[in-house]
Amino acid sequence: MNYQDAYLPSEATIVKMTRENNDIFTLYLKFTDPKIHQSYHAEPGQFIMVYCYGVGEIPISIVDGIPNDKYSCRITVHPRGTVTKSLNQLNVGDSVGLRGPYGNSWPLKQNIGKDVIIISGGIGCAPTIGAIEYIMQNRQDYGTLHILHGMRHGNDLLFQEQYQRCCGPDHTHVHFAAEKEAPQDWHTGYVTDLIDNLTLSNPDNTICFLCGPEVMMMQAAKKLSPQLKAENIFLSLERNMQCGIGQCGHCQCGAKFVCKDGPIFTYTQVKHLLKSP
Ligand SMILES: Cc1cc2nc3c(=O)[nH]c(=O)nc-3n(C[C@H](O)[C@H](O)[C@H](O)COP(=O)(O)OP(=O)(O)OC[C@H]3O[C@@H](n4cnc5c(N)ncnc54)[C@H](O)[C@@H]3O)c2cc1C
Ligand code: FES
Repeated sequence: MNYQDAYLPSEATIVKMTRENNDIFTLYLKFTDPKIHQSYHAEPGQFIMVYCYGVGEIPISIVDGIPNDKYSCRITVHPRGTVTKSLNQLNVGDSVGLRGPYGNSWPLKQNIGKDVIIISGGIGCAPTIGAIEYIMQNRQDYGTLHILHGMRHGNDLLFQEQYQRCCGPDHTHVHFAAEKEAPQDWHTGYVTDLIDNLTLSNPDNTICFLCGPEVMMMQAAKKLSPQLKAENIFLSLERNMQCGIGQCGHCQCGAKFVCKDGPIFTYTQVKHLLKSP
């Protein structure tokens, strides 16, 4: 890798913007250089560095990163601070700078034939959507798929269309939890409560992907670990990042760089580094 070039973002135009709920929004981005657009490819779970010109650059997960005619990649953002709130002020036709994709991806191709549990909380569902779509497109390659997703309020559900598509097929179970005003067929409470009702037919042949607040992931991993091997539980971590390419040290977690060695780690790799719930 040429590190001088690695810091240079490529320009991308916002070709579409959707409001997912009161706060969260999705940007559909297309590289202005057609060569970059055509060659761009991201695996589910990877992230991209998004530069809001004149404001700053932040890591954001790629929801889907296989370019089509209309856009190169899609990101879903929760406005929290300076950069995310500035991105929220942009409009269709405005530009941002992109670097990446960076980081590792969910271990999908390495786990063909296994049952899969995907547990997410809040905006943590964004990096799991690509994994869910991959499994649905290659359904014969995987066993039972359990999707558990939790949020604060019953109105906060994102990616409804994608979850809806999973509800039909056999051996696919989708369960939602909300802490407040959960619809009738949902659980009222935490997503981790749903783990108590999971029936795993072959725990030795089951993997689990976790993404969301760290306390939620640690609680879920703790509940699952008597049944699942710790090396079969995968957590996607978030840390403050600057370079995204293992150079600045901002994202260090123990001896690992979240940007370069992660963001996805096994429970075995990180359980001694994260706060136990
Ligand atoms: C690999 C990776 C993937 C990510 N994917 C997404 C995504 O798909 N969508 C998305 O909306 N965000 C995602 N994030 C988080 C996003 O990068 C941060 O929210 C962003 O950097 C905040 O920048 P800011 O300038 O808007 O906020 P700042 O001005 O830097 O911070 C404002 C406030 O928000 C708090 N804050 C900052 N970062 C976080 C955080 N990660 N979690 C909770 N509070 C925070 C700060 O403590 C501060 O109080 C991801 C982060 C990582 C590392
Ligand atoms: S963000 Fe610089 S080393 Fe990870």
